[in-house]
Amino acid sequence: MSLTDALQRLTPSLQSALRQALTLSAVEELHTAYLGRKGMLAQLMARLPELAPEERPAFGKAANAVKEELSALLTERTGALGAEAEEAALARFDPSLPGREPWKGSLHPTTLVMEEICRVFNALGFETISGPEVETDFHNFEALNLPKDHPARDMQDTLYVSDGVVMRTHTSPMQVRAMLERKKPPLAVIAPGKVYRRDSDITHTPMFHQIEGLLVDKNVTLAHLRGTLTLFLRALFGPEVAVRFRPSFFPFTEPSVEVDISCILCEGKGKIGNEPCRVCKSTGWLEILGSGMVDPAVYGHVGFDPECTGFAFGLGVERVAMLKYGITDLRMFFESDLRFLRQFA
Ligand code: PHE
Repeated sequence: MSLTDALQRLTPSLQSALRQALTLSAVEELHTAYLGRKGMLAQLMARLPELAPEERPAFGKAANAVKEELSALLTERTGALGAEAEEAALARFDPSLPGREPWKGSLHPTTLVMEEICRVFNALGFETISGPEVETDFHNFEALNLPKDHPARDMQDTLYVSDGVVMRTHTSPMQVRAMLERKKPPLAVIAPGKVYRRDSDITHTPMFHQIEGLLVDKNVTLAHLRGTLTLFLRALFGPEVAVRFRPSFFPFTEPSVEVDISCILCEGKGKIGNEPCRVCKSTGWLEILGSGMVDPAVYGHVGFDPECTGFAFGLGVERVAMLKYGITDLRMFFESDLRFLRQFA
């Protein structure tokens, strides 16, 4: 076969080979076989010296034309295969399928309860405030009528940062800060935040949350405390809940009262059917907050007129959240398990 014939056969031969090439890599192989450095076209070109000198220019021109043809065929097939692949992908795509909803973040139950409690008090005119978790001995103890060697300091296992500096053991130092800042009554504040105690077991964690409330004015009585806290607890736990006030002791309130609500689970009956209620341990009551009339000694520490009157209260947020949502294990609040947290979305 003459060199020119061999050249002219390249195009039809690639055409039929391409019809069998079903993948991009098969087309790639044909590219190498026809147009590669050692491919068929190159091999024919290498035989140029076999031709008479006057035939060579025409052959060269023809070879260039064939090269263009081959290259166009290969490009076309590559494009066709790409379009087919895209079409196949689209055929697998079902536009009528419902979308997949992205995960939404949600508020932690502790945050939810804090916000709910603050909302109730905000509606009553209390202002939400916040302050430091690292506190001075003065704000956390001294100004709250807990002098250095007061035995009641043992009620709270304190984490010391350094001499005279503690992780606050309760939110009550916010009472001191609020009064020092406002300088005189009237004031009504609510202070949510983290508190720390050197305590860790199934029912205690070294960090938990409290909410502190303080109202100071003229002629505030225990009746105001009772009315306000009863209204609050019914807003939080439902209008049927019974509220009970028991005498207690806190160094910074006088008199002091602890407040119980009727058990959420057994509704105050102490049992469910014939089974003893495990939530209230059959007492029918749940201790929910500590409170009292601000001790005049505290006013002395913050430069308030000792004739002022006011009440203060503090409650544990996780405890309230456990009762509200029926959570039985305190550790759930701190484990960041999404299976738990998503239920509050
Ligand atoms: N600070 C007390 C506690 O942590 C609670 C409390 C606050 C009691 C305000 C009375 C008044 O136990």
